[in-house]
Amino acid sequence: MRPRLLLAASLFCATAVVVAQAGATASGGTAPNMASNGRKPHVNYMTECQGCHMPDGRGIAGHVPSMKGEVYRFLDVPGGRAFLVQVPGSANSKLSDADLSSLLNWLIPKMGGPAEGAFKPYTPEEVAAYRARRMVDVVNTRAALITRFPAEAPKAN
Ligand code: HEC
Repeated sequence: MRPRLLLAASLFCATAVVVAQAGATASGGTAPNMASNGRKPHVNYMTECQGCHMPDGRGIAGHVPSMKGEVYRFLDVPGGRAFLVQVPGSANSKLSDADLSSLLNWLIPKMGGPAEGAFKPYTPEEVAAYRARRMVDVVNTRAALITRFPAEAPKAN
């Protein structure tokens, strides 16, 4: 199928278990990793994401879906907010919960979504909670969410 991507995904998964365990607190909650690498979201995107997603988010046909004009639509369906964090590329990146939340808050408007301030921003706490729960079946979860996307309002000319 796509062996290199699959290999990358399985390596990511192994990291996720470690991250999830490290984040678990004695009370059973999840402490967000607030450390920041000090880089701006677009720089973190360049180093951690754009190898697959491409600088403009168009992805790689047949392998990595385009995020342009699409990614924010997940915010409109139940489970979609968690999905954007739980996809292996997000959840298993080496970014802290604080840096990943800033990256997603930057990415959503950048890819044609609502402007910053016009959608509920991700917080590090929310990201930590989603990351602590691994997504078992990415492909089918994604497909199911997409079928629930509301029809887009016709664009005015
Ligand atoms: C190894 C390639 C790869 C890297 C690196 C990667 N992604 Fe992805 N990403 C994918 C693939 C493939 C998908 C489609 C879902 C899946 O199969 O994981 C995806 C899906 C997504 C989605 C959901 C959009 C959709 O339409 O499914 C988001 C959000 C996302 N990635 C964010 C990120 C972020 C943020 C980073 C960097 C921190 C990142 N990704 C790094 C390959 C990658």
